[in-house]
Amino acid sequence: MFEAWIRLVERSGSTFPAMMKALQEAGVKVKPVRREEVSGPGLLVFDEMGPATLEALNELRLCPEARVLGVATSGAMLGNDACWRLLDAGLSDVLAWDRCISPAAEIAARLERWRAVDRLIASPQVQDRLVGRSAAWLGLLRQIIEAAAFTDSSVLLLGESGTGKEEVAHLIHALDPRPDKGELVTLDCTTVVPELSGSEFFGHERGAFTGATTSRDGAFALADGGTLFLDEVGELPPKMQAQLLRVVQEHTYKRVGGNTWQQTRFRLICATNRDLSKEVEQGGFRRDFFHRISSWICHLPPLRERTEDLLPLVHHFLRKMRPGRPPLELEEPVREYLLTRDYPGNVRDLRQLVSRICKSHVGDGPITVGDIPPDERPAGAASARWWQDTSFTQSIRRALRGGVGLKDIGRIASETAIRLALAEEQGNLQRAARRLGVTDRALQLRKAQWGAQAAGVFLEEGQRA
Ligand SMILES: Nc1ncnc2c1ncn2[C@@H]1O[C@H](COP(=O)(O)OP(=O)(O)OP(=O)(O)O)[C@@H](O)[C@H]1O
Ligand SMILES: [Mg+2]
Repeated sequence: MFEAWIRLVERSGSTFPAMMKALQEAGVKVKPVRREEVSGPGLLVFDEMGPATLEALNELRLCPEARVLGVATSGAMLGNDACWRLLDAGLSDVLAWDRCISPAAEIAARLERWRAVDRLIASPQVQDRLVGRSAAWLGLLRQIIEAAAFTDSSVLLLGESGTGKEEVAHLIHALDPRPDKGELVTLDCTTVVPELSGSEFFGHERGAFTGATTSRDGAFALADGGTLFLDEVGELPPKMQAQLLRVVQEHTYKRVGGNTWQQTRFRLICATNRDLSKEVEQGGFRRDFFHRISSWICHLPPLRERTEDLLPLVHHFLRKMRPGRPPLELEEPVREYLLTRDYPGNVRDLRQLVSRICKSHVGDGPITVGDIPPDERPAGAASARWWQDTSFTQSIRRALRGGVGLKDIGRIASETAIRLALAEEQGNLQRAARRLGVTDRALQLRKAQWGAQAAGVFLEEGQRA
């Protein structure tokens, strides 16, 4: 028996008692909660696709640590694209009570798995290595953990440079539950020269070619029983991709100069910062190879899409860089500077900046603006538009080209600012209002207006469906 939170959006109230009883029998004790108490896996049960459901969804969206299974009392509500709209609104999965053969058992199975995944996320194995609690990062971690701990699939990690792909590859290997598992073997595909690729991948027999004075194991033999990490796989020329088709699919290969087929068992992890789907379309990357390496595809979000994680990352790096010393605080202008700077090299950039700041800091007092290296200081900080960057200008350009008018651009910019301020202040309205330079009341009104507009769209679409 385990406990899970539940939010009920009920109009009729007739199905719920039977549902609660069935869940209890399936081993789930559900507990209605207030918003502040929502955390981990839970249920949103609803019997209408209307404003009350949307309001509950909006509230739950402010709890990134929640993982929500939507349960519609009737499948009739989930017609057309309603399921997709519910996923877009932040649910992790949706099912209809009256369309499942044993709904309570199905719900219990999902909640139990999600609890196991969350427990792993909270473990030191993950927390000491990878920092972040933003919705984007948690969503990614959940996928990674599902793949690592509950499957033996190959995983393709995509993401810009410095987003943590190598770190995630190590995590997948660490969480792999195979008994007596072997090593993680990394092969950097940028360093493989075509003439020696066969030997590098498969090893060679003695005398296989001039200079082969002894036999040697290749990467696939070394990874037997463990994990093979093909880093920068996007740099592998198509000819070398072809060489790997069989071993990736069948797990058999021949050494260079050898005649016998060798067996190897490994989990394959590949990483690249290239857009492989696009390269497949353009013919630069083999489609057959792409399909074999990508049973699971995980996109690592760039740092600009998870700014809530910036400060936790800064504190994590500071702790690591000053082991055994008191944690350093940040003075407000330093905090603001770190939050608003651009990080084209993502977490790696941030780490390097923190390292430079840390080296110039003296004593155990807070970090001050003088600790920021001179070449890093914001140019023209006095100008009112110092925060605009190229991606801001690009977004506006895209909107204009797409026919979006000034009114909508202004509204969306405000909504984005409000959403970010609320997320960074963990939903605290007063603190968010202070950050936004408006009164609590004004922020409340804006939120209500915007909720009403969103409800209009949601309902219109629901009615269309
Ligand atoms: N979530 C995170 N928490 C803590 N450290 C992180 C996190 N993500 C990345 N790092 C750190 O940032 C640095 C860059 O990460 P990593 O080398 O894994 O990036 P990458 O995606 O492989 O980059 P590239 O494409 O350039 O090879 C490393 O020092 C890593 O430890
Ligand atoms: Mg890397």
